[in-house]
Amino acid sequence: MSSSNTTTLVTNIGSLVTNDPAHAASPTDNLGLIHDAAVLIDGDRIAWTGRAADAPPADTAYDARGRAAIPGFVDSHSHLVFAGDRTQEFNARMSGRAYSAGGIRTTVAATRAATDEELEANVTHYLREALRQGTTTFETKSGYGLTTHDEARALRIASRHTDEVTYLGAHIVSPDYADDPAAYVALVTGEMLDACAPHARWIDVFCEKGAFDGDQARAILTAGKAKGLHPRIHANQLSHGPGVQLAAELDAASADHCTHLTDADVDALANSRTVATLLPGAEFSTRADWPDARRLLDAGATVALSTDCNPGSSFTSSMPFCIALAVRDMGMTPDEALWSATAGGAAALRRTDVGRLTPGARADLVLLDAPSHVHLAYRPGVPLVSEVWRGGVRTTGHAG
Ligand code: NIG
Ligand code: FE
Repeated sequence: MSSSNTTTLVTNIGSLVTNDPAHAASPTDNLGLIHDAAVLIDGDRIAWTGRAADAPPADTAYDARGRAAIPGFVDSHSHLVFAGDRTQEFNARMSGRAYSAGGIRTTVAATRAATDEELEANVTHYLREALRQGTTTFETKSGYGLTTHDEARALRIASRHTDEVTYLGAHIVSPDYADDPAAYVALVTGEMLDACAPHARWIDVFCEKGAFDGDQARAILTAGKAKGLHPRIHANQLSHGPGVQLAAELDAASADHCTHLTDADVDALANSRTVATLLPGAEFSTRADWPDARRLLDAGATVALSTDCNPGSSFTSSMPFCIALAVRDMGMTPDEALWSATAGGAAALRRTDVGRLTPGARADLVLLDAPSHVHLAYRPGVPLVSEVWRGGVRTTGHAG
């Protein structure tokens, strides 16, 4: 603990989720729940968690008045660098039209036409919205530019807001290359990759009918790996396909969506380090069948929950909403969903400094206007996020 920082004791916490194995009640308990708890924040780090009665001295105290506290949400999948609006497409879908990858083209046109300032303002807007709902770490992607210039600028803008930046030049084949997809794959793995790699940590592909097939996806992710980017994949969202197997084969940090899985896909996830990231906002907003979280958890896979925030298939920035859907419709318990939205997201980003309240972790703490984290699913749609500390700095949530 550094003596130059100010220490703050957040105390009188009714129930505290730490995700810390040191506080686990049993070998199967992942949440490390502490009742009548306190958290000591030292600068931007967690210094201590435990029973309030045992708390060390601190410079200042903050009285949680019996509310529940959880780690800040880790939203490991979003598409925030975009312009334009797809209300009409949503309306059409809710009148019975099916979702297809083709809607992405609408956002590509609007994004290309936008100024840097407009894109930056949009990213800032949705990040503030997410922070007010308790998200303290987020990943975001390019993928609505699809030219070397527009993909690189999306990543430059994203990297001003987060370290978790993903190059998704392979979102769909650019409309400019509709007659020659192979030439677009060559661009994505060549000149575009060279321009984008310095601004990103990850590389992603939408592996789906109407986007990129397994061989194209393998070529793109392998080229990214050679440039120091690590893979994550949009896999098995709209139909069965090779994405999940490819994710496991390439040691991708995450296979995202995982809505249509064979038993072999489930086995591949259970027997690899690849996290299954489920995005229930997409199934909600496209009226699609839910991914089966229970099946993945029972097989032993690691599951993350994330928003997929984007203007087409899932225009929500709310992790509490995703938790409520996962509990209601995907077979998760409230405890599992909370873990997946915090520590699970961190695993999908291969991070150990966020998604948990352990000594040395970043001081990302959310106070809920509720006595227990279970209320996130029990009281769906209610703005329960009351106070948010990000890196030890306090902001106020929707309920504050
Ligand atoms: O994750 N699946 C591909 N990409 C997004 C959808 C993007 C869009 O429709 O604009 C997704 O659902
Ligand atoms: Fe996505």
